[in-house]
Amino acid sequence: MLDVRKLSKAFAGFVAVDAVSLAVETRQTTAVIGPNGAGKSTFFNLITGHLRPDSGQVLLDGRDITGTPPHRICRLGIGRSFQRTNIFTRLSVLENVQAALLAHRGRGHDFWSRSERFYRDEAEELLGSIGLAHQADSTAGTLAYGNQKQLELGIALASDPQVLLLDEPTAGMSATETREAMKLLERIAGERGLTLIFTEHDMEVVFSIAEKIAVLHQGRVLAKGTPAEVRADAEVRRVYLGERP
Ligand SMILES: Nc1ncnc2c1ncn2[C@@H]1O[C@H](COP(=O)(O)OP(=O)(O)OP(=O)(O)O)[C@@H](O)[C@H]1O
Ligand SMILES: [Mg+2]
Repeated sequence: MLDVRKLSKAFAGFVAVDAVSLAVETRQTTAVIGPNGAGKSTFFNLITGHLRPDSGQVLLDGRDITGTPPHRICRLGIGRSFQRTNIFTRLSVLENVQAALLAHRGRGHDFWSRSERFYRDEAEELLGSIGLAHQADSTAGTLAYGNQKQLELGIALASDPQVLLLDEPTAGMSATETREAMKLLERIAGERGLTLIFTEHDMEVVFSIAEKIAVLHQGRVLAKGTPAEVRADAEVRRVYLGERP
C-alpha cells in the first residue's frame, strides 16, 4: 500500500530523516517509535507532503506521490492527525466534522443549502462511530483533552482515507483514556479496512496493537520487524528500551 524508499530530509545541514525506507501492507498496523527528536514527525510530514524530501520516494499503491502537495495527497487517500491538536476550538464538535467533510468533498450538488446543513447527516454518523455523538453540540475547545483527540480522529476520517497516519494519538491522555482511544482506533481501523501508521511513546500501547514496528534513532532506522523481532533486537534494547546488556 505504502512504499517509502530512502527518504531523507535535512534542516540547515542537520539530517533529521536519513535514508529511511518502510514498506507497509494494506490493512497492516505499523508503529514508528523512537526517542524525542528521532525524526518520527518529520518522517510523517514527508509522507503527507507537509515537507518536501531532499531525496527518496513515496509510493502509494505503486504511484509516485513524492513532492505532491498535502491536500492532493489527502485526496489520494492518506489521512493524518497531528502531534498537537488541530481542531477549530470555537466551532462545535459537529461543525468541525462538517468543515472537514466540506473541505474534502466540496459543496457538490448541495450548492443552495445553508451552511449548517452541509453534510450534517454524514457528520452525525461519523461522530456516532467514534463515540462522540452526545458531544455534537459542545464547543470543541471545551472538550476534555481525550475527547479532543477523538474529534481529531473524526476529522481525519472525514477525508475517507485508505492510509491513516497518527502522530502520537494518545499524547497527554491518562492511562484509561489511552486504552479507550486505542480500542476505538483498532475498531475503526478494522471496520474501515484502514492501513494504520502511528507514532507513540507508550510501549504498552505499541506492543499491544502494532503488527509491525519501525524504530527510528537519530533519523535512521535502527530496526524494523514484528513486535517480537524488535523486542529481541539487541541494539534496540540498548539505545531505546533502556536495558543494560
Ligand atoms: N522545521 C524544522 N526546522 C529545523 N529542525 C527541525 C524542524 N523540524 C524538526 N527538526 C529537528 O529534526 C529532528 C527530528 O524532529 P521530529 O519532530 O521529527 O522528531 P520526533 O521523533 O517527532 O520527536 P518527538 O518524539 O519529540 O515528537 C529534531 O532534532 C528537531 O529539532
Ligand atoms: Mg514528533
